[in-house]
Amino acid sequence: MRLLPGHLPIEQQRHLVAALRVILDRAPLYHPVLPRSGSPYSVRMSNCGPLGWLSDRNGYRYSPTHPLTGEPWPAIPPMVLDLWQAATGAAFPPEACLINYYGPTARLGLHRDQDEAAKEAPILSISLGDTALFRLGGPERKSPTRSVKLSSGDLVVLSGASRHWYHGVDRILPGTSQLLAEGGRFNLTLRRVTPP
Ligand code: SIN
Ligand code: FE2
Repeated sequence: MRLLPGHLPIEQQRHLVAALRVILDRAPLYHPVLPRSGSPYSVRMSNCGPLGWLSDRNGYRYSPTHPLTGEPWPAIPPMVLDLWQAATGAAFPPEACLINYYGPTARLGLHRDQDEAAKEAPILSISLGDTALFRLGGPERKSPTRSVKLSSGDLVVLSGASRHWYHGVDRILPGTSQLLAEGGRFNLTLRRVTPP
């Protein structure tokens, strides 16, 4: 895992939040549920890009349309595509940009990202708003883990072995950023889904 702390200057963070607001007007945050149990996530989600990641009673999958509006996801903002290129060096664009919103009490359990046929393509994550206590594990659920603080403007690249490591968000530290009027945290996760 490569952490690029403070990579995004505050003006770029504001620009990105403004672009996110436009996206979320068209593709509103919704409350996803876990497969089988149907229990709700504490995180709200939306997507942009040709494909969006969904979790519902039937499982995890990628879909070209929003589950509630039925509309195609809005495009990934050019600025985000530039960040992908700069941070990952990949010769191909991402296809999915998952938008997670964490309110003050939201968290995300330990998991691996493994719904992509492009198994070796890197993953880029962009943090905006309140600091998160991110948990990074290893290749197995029982692998040792460590806690990493992700602040507004930080980028994380998961590539090589870390592409398949367990990770999650233990909690958000409310009031640690002034970026979002409503407080909380946005995380953008960019992934290639189909083999380039
Ligand atoms: C995720 O793993 O889907 C999101 C990680 C984060 O919010 O930093
Ligand atoms: Fe993940």
